[in-house]
Amino acid sequence: MSQPVSNHANSVEVTPSLTARLVIARGTEAGGQTAEAFDVPFEAGQSVLDGLRWIRANRDPGLAFRFSCISANACKECMMRIDGKVVYACLARLEPREMHLAPLANKPLVRDLVSEIAPPAERLPAPGNDGSA
Ligand code: FES
Repeated sequence: MSQPVSNHANSVEVTPSLTARLVIARGTEAGGQTAEAFDVPFEAGQSVLDGLRWIRANRDPGLAFRFSCISANACKECMMRIDGKVVYACLARLEPREMHLAPLANKPLVRDLVSEIAPPAERLPAPGNDGSA
């Protein structure tokens, strides 16, 4: 419970700011993965995807994760593992605690939280491996 704090003539209610700590698997299949922690301002009602978008905008524009519809639960692109469970990041609530994020375990890793989710027949060929000579 927050305490009133005397501010000279005024009494001001101070609420401690809360943070969510997102511990994110970073890296690639070839280069290996490490965990990197980011503290994100917490507001009730935010999604984990909101937290990831905040990190990308304010801390690391190179963080790789996938999304499209943002909480319409239509694109299914934000699927990842949060605390070991496969969930949609746009539906998972951000919580003011440490949360561990990782890419899907059963799909080839592209980078960070992005895994290859397209069916093999629909994937683009890797650069230099398109069959042309
Ligand atoms: S962003 Fe589309 S389902 Fe999550």
